[in-house]
Amino acid sequence: MTAKAEIQNRQATDQTTWASDLVNPEATANLANALATQATPGLTVLLEGPVGAGKSYFARCAIQSLMAQTGMIEDVPSPTFTLVQTYELDQLDVWHADLYRLTNPDELIELGLEQAFDTALCLIEWPDRLGDLRPAGALNISLTPDAKDPDRRFVQINGPSEIVTRLIAAMETQ
Ligand SMILES: Nc1ncnc2c1ncn2[C@@H]1O[C@H](COP(=O)(O)OP(=O)(O)OP(=O)(O)O)[C@@H](O)[C@H]1O
Ligand SMILES: [Mg+2]
Repeated sequence: MTAKAEIQNRQATDQTTWASDLVNPEATANLANALATQATPGLTVLLEGPVGAGKSYFARCAIQSLMAQTGMIEDVPSPTFTLVQTYELDQLDVWHADLYRLTNPDELIELGLEQAFDTALCLIEWPDRLGDLRPAGALNISLTPDAKDPDRRFVQINGPSEIVTRLIAAMETQ
């Protein structure tokens, strides 16, 4: 993590925003590994950012890290065409969704995503497509590419203070 990293904006609503630079893919993987140590059923991570920002990269790293915790090795394919990929891991169920091609939020109810928000770790790309289904209490991770450096991303994390604080602490102890 860079020295620029800081916890800021602790508000009355008990939301915390944290921002930093992820200087290369390894730094993004480090954040994803930290998330894997803090993952609990019912945690939803909303991954925001433009095409190529690194949302799938982050989700894949987090899922692979969870698998590695129990020595599991499995492919982590992109959910671009299937909308969701689900994983029944030893620790918890994981739903990885890419909603870019979603045409109607009703499809999400049919898929069971609303229930998964309560029971699984959900990693959601293009969460703006969720509409009213966007869960309160989610962790928002926004990735912004750097115009000059193809390997650098600006990351902004916002969510319940307790989760954000645990995540940042886990990342800094790695
Ligand atoms: N710091 C970084 N963090 C994450 N990815 C990076 C970084 N630097 C370079 N990359 C590369 O950027 C690409 C990101 O692609 P990825 O598929 O994860 O984007 P995405 O946000 O999921 O896009 P889409 O909206 O099309 O699903 C990967 O090839 C990854 O290796
Ligand atoms: Mg993607």
